[in-house]
Amino acid sequence: MEKMTLAQQLGTLQQHRAGNWAVTGARSRPNLHSILRYPAMMVPTMQGDIIDLLVGHVGNECRVVDTFVGSGTVLTESLIRGLDFTGCDINPLAVLVCEAKIAIDGGVNLEAAATSVLEAISSDASSSVDVNFPGLSKWFAIETSRELSRIRRSILDVEDQGARKVFWAVFAETIRLCSNSRTSTYKLHARKDDALVSWTKVQSIFRENLANTLEKAGHYRELIDGRDERPTACVHCADVRAVSFDSNEAKHTILVTSPPYGDNQTTIPYGQFSYLALCWIPAEDLPIEPGRLISNTHALDSASLGGSLKGATEKAEAMRGVSPSLDQLLDTPKGEPMVKELRKVASFMADFYNALSHIRHSLPGGAHWAFTTGNRRAAGRIIPFDQICREMACTLGGRPVTSLQRSLPTKRMPSKNNMGEMITTENTLVVEFT
Ligand SMILES: C[S@@+](CC[C@H](N)C(=O)[O-])C[C@H]1O[C@@H](n2cnc3c(N)ncnc32)[C@H](O)[C@@H]1O
Repeated sequence: MEKMTLAQQLGTLQQHRAGNWAVTGARSRPNLHSILRYPAMMVPTMQGDIIDLLVGHVGNECRVVDTFVGSGTVLTESLIRGLDFTGCDINPLAVLVCEAKIAIDGGVNLEAAATSVLEAISSDASSSVDVNFPGLSKWFAIETSRELSRIRRSILDVEDQGARKVFWAVFAETIRLCSNSRTSTYKLHARKDDALVSWTKVQSIFRENLANTLEKAGHYRELIDGRDERPTACVHCADVRAVSFDSNEAKHTILVTSPPYGDNQTTIPYGQFSYLALCWIPAEDLPIEPGRLISNTHALDSASLGGSLKGATEKAEAMRGVSPSLDQLLDTPKGEPMVKELRKVASFMADFYNALSHIRHSLPGGAHWAFTTGNRRAAGRIIPFDQICREMACTLGGRPVTSLQRSLPTKRMPSKNNMGEMITTENTLVVEFT
């Protein structure tokens, strides 16, 4: 019997597995996948299936890469399979969570350190508040800040760096749940008075999160039990347009990623979501000194792809010919300036193409890319991001293999978003480079 082509194999995968990919919620995020609730996380089973199929196609001499790694869905799926991994994200909180997952994979002993942290919290009678940043008193009641400072001091006393990273991830989740900002949106948005979380609950929320994380880490260790030799994994905290990957020429690249849908401000504000945790976690324990990225609540979003409107019209002009669908989208009647929303789209797309070009040139040689994207609305039009992605990949010398689809019942976009509708379908485009 003739061997199926890669496109046929992917088609069969979609046919047999689409039901599993539609499962969302807690059940779909076992082991390390639920350590921190990060926005727009990928569905682990789907990405795992794609990795299995691509590794089966190219053989084990490969490295999985996720250039917009977020909280590390693809990282976890790679580690479970014992595959070497390289990741990148501009957001220090996302990279910290990835580092915590790598520490758990490496066998860090959490239990003893967790007991000391809990004991230290209980015996800490100090009422000092150890951080100060713009908005501290708006987002946290003074008593809440005192409780969080107790937890922070206790984690700082932990010697093992890997264990500390895991505890910071738990701390970040506690901050998200205990601040005066709503948890129903990724933006910083004050809770109503009757929804404020009492400071008396801070410690129990932390304890519960910690117990949950220890349990999840235990499940993960069972999953990889007996496989002592762990793969290499490294995650860069950097703008992907400038990161230097230590490319291993001998290895085929399997790039599995989900880029942002558009600029963070009008789609998903990963930076605002992370701001409070980044202000609380000591800079020396973050993957990079966050400095200007937390100089205000919007700084990280402005530094992300499409975050600046500066030179947007020129950027759009420079993109001519890269993607016919983008040319058509950005076409304005002669002499008329581009509306602001379209300039934002242009700026994002130009940044995104720069990122793709940098990735392609930094990781040369054989590669497969699997890009999961969604088509949103902006300026009253559908933005055909899937098609634009395909055309950009072709301009860079790639050959589109096929696309997979997943219906998307729950992925949330900011509710007061004049970009309008929810994204209802996710597309995963697979491209081959030889
Ligand atoms: C859709 S999310 C990835 C979510 C991830 N797949 C997960 O499952 O958690 C997109 C990510 O792109 C990152 N990002 C945006 N601009 C970036 C840039 N210039 N360089 C690197 N990462 C960037 C964001 O911080 C965000 O974490």
